[in-house]
Amino acid sequence: MDFTLSTEQKLIRDTARDFAQNELLEGVIERDENKEFPKMQIQKMADMGFLGMMVSPQYGGGGMDTISYVLAMEEISKVDASCSVIMSVNNSLVCWGIEKYGSEEQKEKYLHRLASGEIIGAFCLSEPEAGSDATSQRTTAIDKGDYYLLNGTKNWITNGSSASIYLVIAQTDIEKGHKGINAFIVEKDTPGLTVGPKENKLGIRSSDTTSIMFSDVKVPKKNRIQEDGFGFKFAMKTLEGGRIGIASQALGIASGAYELSLKYSQERKAFGKEIIKHQAIAFKLADMATEIDCGRLLCLKAAWQKDNNMSYALSSSMAKLYCAEKAMKITTEAVQIHGGYGFVKEYHVERLMRDAKITQIYEGTSEIQKIVISRSILK
Ligand code: CAA
Repeated sequence: MDFTLSTEQKLIRDTARDFAQNELLEGVIERDENKEFPKMQIQKMADMGFLGMMVSPQYGGGGMDTISYVLAMEEISKVDASCSVIMSVNNSLVCWGIEKYGSEEQKEKYLHRLASGEIIGAFCLSEPEAGSDATSQRTTAIDKGDYYLLNGTKNWITNGSSASIYLVIAQTDIEKGHKGINAFIVEKDTPGLTVGPKENKLGIRSSDTTSIMFSDVKVPKKNRIQEDGFGFKFAMKTLEGGRIGIASQALGIASGAYELSLKYSQERKAFGKEIIKHQAIAFKLADMATEIDCGRLLCLKAAWQKDNNMSYALSSSMAKLYCAEKAMKITTEAVQIHGGYGFVKEYHVERLMRDAKITQIYEGTSEIQKIVISRSILK
């Protein structure tokens, strides 16, 4: 088995690393503190092609593989997980969903603008009473001939206020259960669509998370994705890839915390020597390094399977579960290694610990990943 990255993949990783260190690090603490959307940083990421990395060149994207996407996501997440979730949702949920399942007209209309960063997109599945239980959609999309009438509320929407288009999952025929669900592309300025206030979150504070409300929103039929009833499958398939993105985000948060801890423990002295020379600290770092390597391998395996048109539902859930759990553990250990300094903002690890928590929740909680994995084992 060949674990060597291609020259292009290494270049993308190194470019993302330099960009994150040179452009995202400055101001990250203040953006987090003030819940300030990283508008300028996202514009620069768009200019560098990070927002449409995997979109085909024919639709204005970078045409890169999922492995490159994982590598870039890790590097950006090491420094600013708010920027990386914006990148992840735009790439692996919105752009991928439209490119894979959209009509030619939908692709032409939206992908160029999404890939260039002229606009960004959001994915609207979760509801006040349907997060994990995704088949229980309460948002309705009633067929009115040449349009659908949307009513309902979506919760916890990443890019909620900054997005220009929303992929919305809604129930058209309750009798049909999950087979009565549809997915639509809804433009922000459609009358009846309103955006709620920005949530005041524990982590990824500078990304904007809002509710989206639909009140008699008319969505043209041509904005439905695929045939009637395809919406649930669309959501599940899209989330399979999304989970590779969030796994890589969790991996990056963990490796960012590890790198800071390694540096700190080589500089900080206690009991007459650098703390890395105390076994208590060295063993923590050994565990962190091993777990990060395992997580990276899981992410790259899922990405490789996706790039090679193999099934990746299981591997993406495994990567997401493992990396999210380890991100929480590793960032907590990083705070411990830093002692009192870890508890203040200037040393970054407390932010990484807060950011890690969401990776166990969104795009399917850790418990949801275990459902997917255990069902696959039972099969
Ligand atoms: N691919 C294709 N089809 C799939 C599928 C997949 N991965 N998973 C399920 N399906 C199909 C099933 O085959 C079944 O179809 P049939 O009846 O025709 O066989 C149908 O969908 C229903 O499947 P289940 O009976 O397995 O459904 P379930 O109710 O038991 O739920 C679940 C399955 C895996 C738990 C699913 O509900 C799920 O993934 N929930 C989590 C949702 C989630 O990730 N939400 C995150 C919100 S998005 C977000 O966070 C974005 C962001 O902003 C960052």
